[in-house]
Amino acid sequence: MKGIVLAGGSGSRLHPATLAMNKQLLPVYDKPMIYYPVSVLMLAGIRDILIISTPDHLDDYVRLLGSGAQFGVDFSYAVQERPEGLAQAFVIGRDFVGSDDVALILGDNIFFGAGLVSLLDRASARRRGATIFAYAVEDAERYGVVSLTGEGKPLRIVEKPQAPQSPWAVTGLYFYDNRVLDIAAAVKPSARGELEITDVNNAYLALSELHVECMSRGYTWLDTGTHDSLLEAGEFVRTIQKRQGQLVASPEEIAFAKGFISRDQLHERGAELAKTAYGRSLLALAAEAR
Ligand code: G1P
Repeated sequence: MKGIVLAGGSGSRLHPATLAMNKQLLPVYDKPMIYYPVSVLMLAGIRDILIISTPDHLDDYVRLLGSGAQFGVDFSYAVQERPEGLAQAFVIGRDFVGSDDVALILGDNIFFGAGLVSLLDRASARRRGATIFAYAVEDAERYGVVSLTGEGKPLRIVEKPQAPQSPWAVTGLYFYDNRVLDIAAAVKPSARGELEITDVNNAYLALSELHVECMSRGYTWLDTGTHDSLLEAGEFVRTIQKRQGQLVASPEEIAFAKGFISRDQLHERGAELAKTAYGRSLLALAAEAR
């Protein structure tokens, strides 16, 4: 399975912080925002990852993430010329995806929870159809919203409804079979001029091949779209890391646990970053594994 991280957008709700910098490069506490979605794909066992960003910022991602060797993964890069919607990721990424299945994650979505790995395993084990993840929120009108039957089967998805029919927001993490390439290619721009991922998901729904995994209590899905929510996300990560003495969303830690990098590589990376608590945590992990 391939993975795509979409890290585009103008970040206008975070101006002036994002006037000269792409939003997903901003720190969430001790690491760049994009580490969080990259970590989720890696937790799902995905090692072939396409990073899509704006013409102005793609080079910054190349500088930050490089080949991916430090995480034991393979990064490719592609430009989205204009912010014309999430579904465009599959038009841009068509050659990259080839004949494989693919997971898409938005560069500003942060997921945390003990059950995440089994949820991801279940989604990537499905050979057919699509899987989306729903999270109950107070302000569902800001998101794609999925209505569910009593048995948790999806009825419909509406993009940013004025009066949401359910509290279940569709999060920015999606697993698809290879048909998504053709489905996305057939999507027409919406009223806001975007190729909507909601249209892709509704196409799978019409085929009765859309699975919805509800992230209930025990999961955290954080938004980083405003100055307040960005700061809150950083505080959340700091609280967990300080209290538990464990890193949240460290690609190096995940890479080592999954056998993508060796103990020596983990140590080397920790040594490079040793001026920070992040780097020292990596060194400690490498030392424990001796
Ligand atoms: C996008 C999707 C929306 C989804 C959200 C998750 O919204 O269109 O369906 O709920 O991401 O972050 P946008 O970022 O375009 O406002």
